[in-house]
Amino acid sequence: MRIAFFDSGLGGITVLHEGMRRFPQEDFYYYADTLHVPYGTKPKHEVKQYIFEAVDRMMQLDIKALVIACNTATSIAISELRSVYTSIPIIGMEPAVKPAVQLSRVNGRRVLVLATPLTLRESKYIELVNRIDDLSIVDSLPLPELVQYCESLQFDEAVMTDYFSAKFAPYDLNNYGTLVLGCTHYPFYRQILRKLLPKHIQIIDGSSGTVNHLAELLVSHSLLENTGCADVQFICSDDSPSYLQRMEQALNIYRTHQS
Ligand code: SIN
Repeated sequence: MRIAFFDSGLGGITVLHEGMRRFPQEDFYYYADTLHVPYGTKPKHEVKQYIFEAVDRMMQLDIKALVIACNTATSIAISELRSVYTSIPIIGMEPAVKPAVQLSRVNGRRVLVLATPLTLRESKYIELVNRIDDLSIVDSLPLPELVQYCESLQFDEAVMTDYFSAKFAPYDLNNYGTLVLGCTHYPFYRQILRKLLPKHIQIIDGSSGTVNHLAELLVSHSLLENTGCADVQFICSDDSPSYLQRMEQALNIYRTHQS
């Protein structure tokens, strides 16, 4: 049986990559909802319907755990997904606000969270920040265009540096110590951000936290098999052969970024 990863598009590949690194002897499905990407700029009720359609389709596969490798989908549907699909563990994403606030206790600077508009509007995010941000040091910046840049494999350094510079223009970055990538598409831009941002800013995301949680659940449910070879079977909701190729290309691009 395989471990399944789900996202609206290419973003979850950044989490899949961490999963493959941690479990090289497991096999994986990666499902992208190409019919409906992006999620983060659409109304909640629509996106929720898309998520349930996608997860229904994934549950037909031979899977032993499901990672919702999408911050937007996690924000709006994780609790309902867990109550509807009880036969396997379902793991979601959480913007890494908690580790960021802990870092700020050491570096004495503010935290800037980047995410989709839908994630930042959701009560799950607002409650997370209210619970953790006792010193009011967390600011949130929606990036509604970034998922589409990533979906079209727009990684040109000059184009993306201009984009990020315009978004950061209202902020005095010297006040910030940590940048949180709160959407799974955004780690594709880590290197460009690294070059652009002052050196003292740490850039963090939620992938390793999610994969740690996956590891705990695989162990506690006795689901580790160690009989695979990190094989990935890509699936997309519109069954487009060119998008299947794009997913493999994106995994290779991300792998190169990490090495
Ligand atoms: C999106 O589809 O808009 C992004 C998904 C995410 O938040 O990870």
